Amino acid sequence: MTKPAEPMRRTAPIDFPQDRTCPYHPPTAYAPLREARPLARVALFDGREAWAVTGHAVARELLADPRLSADRTHPDFPAPTERFARVRNRSVALLGVDDPRHNTQRRMLIPSFSVKRVAALRPAIQETVDRLLDAMEAQGPPAELVEAFALPLPSIVICALLGVPYADHDFFEERSRRLLRGPRAEDTEAARDELDAYFHRLIDRKRANPGDGLLDELIHRQLAKGAVTPEELVSFATILLVAGHETTANMLSLGTFTLLRHPERLTELKAGIGREERLPPAVVEELLRYLSIADGLLRVVKEDIEIAGKTLRAGDGVVFSTSLINRDDAAFEAPEELDWRRATPHHLAFGFGVHQCLGQNLARAEIEIALSSLFGRLPGLRLAAPAEDIPFKPGDTIQGMLELPVTW
Ligand code: HEM
Repeated sequence: MTKPAEPMRRTAPIDFPQDRTCPYHPPTAYAPLREARPLARVALFDGREAWAVTGHAVARELLADPRLSADRTHPDFPAPTERFARVRNRSVALLGVDDPRHNTQRRMLIPSFSVKRVAALRPAIQETVDRLLDAMEAQGPPAELVEAFALPLPSIVICALLGVPYADHDFFEERSRRLLRGPRAEDTEAARDELDAYFHRLIDRKRANPGDGLLDELIHRQLAKGAVTPEELVSFATILLVAGHETTANMLSLGTFTLLRHPERLTELKAGIGREERLPPAVVEELLRYLSIADGLLRVVKEDIEIAGKTLRAGDGVVFSTSLINRDDAAFEAPEELDWRRATPHHLAFGFGVHQCLGQNLARAEIEIALSSLFGRLPGLRLAAPAEDIPFKPGDTIQGMLELPVTW
């Protein structure tokens, strides 16, 4: 344990990001950042300093401020890891683009992720959940939940939505993993190039033989009239495929782990599932807040900004720690508790402002259907290894479980 800093003494910025000590809590090493809310200085992997935003109100204000840019090709854009620094030279659609281009891109995709479209996908999601649970029950107990359930579900769903053959899932799941987690910068760069080549080939095939997924729609509506370039389309495909399965898979594995570690909450939930056969929306929102799996959103300052008594200068890097923002006690009562009865579920787990998660309706539906069915069908579900021995993801990527051995 390091000794607490003495008052008034300026301490060196702490490193960001760092590993969580418990998979569902912010890293304990972030304690000085909590104390310095809403804004503090942190040191990135290359020694460069950046602003860390940790307060809820300031985060909302800054994420809605057009003086911050999401353009990762900007020379001053902050890099949390060496592998991120290696691939940030090429533009990433949506997530890495500012308005007005961002708005044009997003409007092409919004209809496919609306509440109405997602509602129409629910029967297919439920069918996939049932099929995966049938197979898991037929082969177990025990089971490894990430491989048997948490990863294949969102992967199958996003493939069907995009029109990507699920038969290729070993290829793209492995490349997505390396894109996000390396471990070496060369692995990330190679994964990016292999995914690019894969989608160029897939788009060429679809131009010759149209199918009925979102990519086909974009090829025939947008590419044909020149509204998107082939490179943009490849970038859409990559971000939708990667964000569409890696994030939700982590919510399912870490959400299950977290509920199993909160038995009194789980008992309450199972009684509710028994009566209503579905997880109330407030439970999904609270899990999103509590787990904050996308922890470290990135921006660069384009023009000086005065906020919370500080000046963010043009060229400064900014990181948003959603795990600390979502545990700000000025915004949430008893933020360290997992409690879905709280009155203010306005978490920032999906971000805020123009880049707020495009797939949030889909993610909510998948989490609700998957966890309702999992605990509804297997009420005796429990961990098949001591909780402390189950490996989880490092702090410099999307948070979640690497494996989840369970039995029932
Ligand atoms: C529980 C699961 C998910 C979480 C926690 C999550 C989280 C986030 C966050 C925090 C952002 C904002 C990033 C920023 O401002 O820098 C974001 C953006 C985005 N997400 Fe998600 N996401 C999830 C699921 C999905 C799914 C299922 C898709 C489906 C395709 C998706 C697609 C996207 C896209 C395309 C963006 C960029 C939007 C833009 O820049 O306009 N996400 N997500």
